[in-house]
Amino acid sequence: MKSFACLLALAVASGLGAAELPHLRRQGTATQLIVDGQPFLIRGGELGNSSGEPGYLKKSWPKLSAMNLNTVVAPVYWDVIEPEEGKLDFATVDGLIADARASDLHLVLLWFGTWKNSMSCYVPAWVKLDQARFPRAQDAAGRGLEILSPLHAVSRDTDARAFAALMRHLKAADPEHTVIMVQVENEIGMIPEARDRSSAAEKAFAAAVPPALMDYLAAHRAQLAPELLAVWNAAGGKASGTWTEVFGAGPAGEEIFMAWQFAAYTQTVAAAGKAELALPMYANAALIRPGYQPGQYPSAGPLPHLIDVWRAAAPALNFLAPDIYFQNFSYWAQLYTRSGNPLFIPEAMRSPEASVNALYAFGALDAMGFSPFAIESNTEPAAGFLTASFDLVRQLTPLLLEKQGRGLTAGLLQESAESKQPQQVRLGGWIFRVSFERAAPPQLADGLAVVVGAENSALAAGGRAGAAPAGGLMVALNDDEFLFAGIGLTITFDPAGGGQQAGLLGVEEGRYVDGQWQHLRWLNGDQTHQGRHVRLEPGRFSIQRVKLYRYR
Ligand code: DGJ
Repeated sequence: MKSFACLLALAVASGLGAAELPHLRRQGTATQLIVDGQPFLIRGGELGNSSGEPGYLKKSWPKLSAMNLNTVVAPVYWDVIEPEEGKLDFATVDGLIADARASDLHLVLLWFGTWKNSMSCYVPAWVKLDQARFPRAQDAAGRGLEILSPLHAVSRDTDARAFAALMRHLKAADPEHTVIMVQVENEIGMIPEARDRSSAAEKAFAAAVPPALMDYLAAHRAQLAPELLAVWNAAGGKASGTWTEVFGAGPAGEEIFMAWQFAAYTQTVAAAGKAELALPMYANAALIRPGYQPGQYPSAGPLPHLIDVWRAAAPALNFLAPDIYFQNFSYWAQLYTRSGNPLFIPEAMRSPEASVNALYAFGALDAMGFSPFAIESNTEPAAGFLTASFDLVRQLTPLLLEKQGRGLTAGLLQESAESKQPQQVRLGGWIFRVSFERAAPPQLADGLAVVVGAENSALAAGGRAGAAPAGGLMVALNDDEFLFAGIGLTITFDPAGGGQQAGLLGVEEGRYVDGQWQHLRWLNGDQTHQGRHVRLEPGRFSIQRVKLYRYR
């Protein structure tokens, strides 16, 4: 009698019962990730760089599940899987897949190949030690950097072969698609100078801009990132010429040149992998500190002002993704929705704010996922807030997926800690004004009874009073009914056309269980300021459904 594993292998080989390959599809203006045939929102967490070996990670899986993650974003190290050239060892990858599956979690794999945060620290020793075969980028003084130059076909093809082998292995070893997406390289960038000065790079820089880039820019002129268009126009908006003729002699043009080289190399790697297994793929970027010039930050990566160069050179990538460690989360997240780029945030600061930034990204920007960094090291109070926020995302996933891309959702987030102006949101025929309250109030203040639900109270989870973040999302359920989810929000409302006034017909707190709304209590009296506003109290994540009406 054939074993079960053997029967399963036969079924998969014949296409019988093979799970549908994860992929992307459009819904209105949103792009949705499809997993197991269903749209999926990633409640993710990215592992710290050196935590991706199964033996080391073993103890952390219960903690990862308890934070309400559904996906772990995990590195695959080129130097570990190919310690000798051509001899591939996928034990670490297999271990991750088995452990993730046992915890009912998915994986997004990060290919730490040629580049990791600009550097080439994850290339195998046999690459590091063979500078003739695998040439490095050079600085203006002719010194080699620990960054492989993107201008060399041998490096590119050697990386592409290893990456293709990984994807081929996944095809055989992961028929259930525990792995749902793959990041190609990590935070590519050129530093501490804007441009590689090796002889191959100098030669390419003196040559003409490839027609493929010029054609792309001409065809997409109306949608180009304004910064790129400005650099091109400032140099005369030429249809052809050398890099300095087309983009000027400054660092901005040098960065465009490097972006093309990095993206073209990444394209070869990604395409080789996709030819084996066509999972969705993306590249991520380290963002720019204010005032920094190309060369001072990891330049030429998939940054918002270079999005068109990356798209032109690397069509095998489905999208470009930001690693957001800055306070102005909404600013950077919005830049990554430019010209239809689907938003996935593979890395974010592991702070209490992550919990509300996630809600904002899903509500405002149709994000397909959000994932704080070094998740296995998450501690209180950030861990408690994230757990509670991801619980809301889990409850709301069917609703969000139904409404995404149709102008029926919004994100609620204070522009900055200093900003005192309420956020104004227009949804349907209503205008909402949202104020944010970070500090947790005393449990009993004058005339205000605050009921702290034990199941997701940030305070119960160890949050300090005053440390609670504020933010959330809202969904239009129908013309006059809205859902609010979040923490520390006070919302007033008016009919959009003016003329009439608005009141509350009913405010209900509850939760979704398997997509079905379950009533907890009606909120009225002090909890709505006697009908004047909706309030999601500070220090505790909650969901409310609100019915509005108009009166004269
Ligand atoms: C961004 C990188 O992509 C991560 O791998 C890690 O190095 C973090 N920075 C550290 O903050």
